[in-house]
Amino acid sequence: MVKFTVIGGNASSDLAKRIARRLKAPYIKTGKKVFPDGESKITIDQIPKKSIVIVVQSTYPPVDTNLLELLSIVSKVQKVSSKVYAVIPYMGYARQDREFLGGEIITIGVVGKLLKAAGVKKILTVDIHSKLALKELKIPSENVSAMEVLVKHFKKINMKNPLVVSPDLGGQERAKKFANILKTDFIALKKHRDRKTGKVEILTRKVDVKNRDLILVDDMISTGGSIVKATKFLKKHKCKRVFVACTHALLVNNAAKDIKNSGVYQIISTNTIPGNSSKVDVSKVISNALS
Ligand code: R5P
Repeated sequence: MVKFTVIGGNASSDLAKRIARRLKAPYIKTGKKVFPDGESKITIDQIPKKSIVIVVQSTYPPVDTNLLELLSIVSKVQKVSSKVYAVIPYMGYARQDREFLGGEIITIGVVGKLLKAAGVKKILTVDIHSKLALKELKIPSENVSAMEVLVKHFKKINMKNPLVVSPDLGGQERAKKFANILKTDFIALKKHRDRKTGKVEILTRKVDVKNRDLILVDDMISTGGSIVKATKFLKKHKCKRVFVACTHALLVNNAAKDIKNSGVYQIISTNTIPGNSSKVDVSKVISNALS
């Protein structure tokens, strides 16, 4: 009997195939048809034989569509397997992990309830936005870090006196980890985001970054606002090149263009979200955690 069967949702089929190869597990693909009204019909090529079934699906935009696809696949396979694990490399809604303003809903908790109801027994995710989000899922969940594989990529780049920078204080643990593996130092900027408008402001006033190549390390880039503001600030302080290392490059709307225009030299992200910048493969990190 095979131990694992891997099913790739449409948002993560390439990564799912890589995970299946590493686990030496059969890979099952899914199909998708979108109706004129926007509903999608998901099909599974083959019903898996008795094994631990791993459904791989990131929930990047369209977030709800990808989430519903994941829920649909899980609800189908839980009929033949009592052990269905969801690998959600990019966990959408993880930033909605607390009530920032009165009346807000902790939507990541709702996502957890839906996954549990569909039949998910365990979740594996990569660099989830916060520990709180992981806790709010209320299903056995594990978070793995992509920092090591990202650093491995950066080690191949010839950099001048590199310094790791976290664009906000919330990300300093991640930046510290990155800097430790790269064997360099790090700083964290103080950032403020207006909870109503979403506008970002850098509160730090002075940094010593002159003539250094910088690596801005973040878990995710969405609108690019945080990276643009940080880069403009760092450029004023006469740094050399600004690289961006992030796990999840959502790059919504004009984010890629805005980031380039702010002076960023290169963005390197992982394949939790496929795209032009996703040069780093996280399949090994995920399969190691599963096996
Ligand atoms: C914030 O705490 C996160 O770590 C990211 O910095 C943020 O979510 C990125 O969003 P945006 O690209 O829209 O500024």
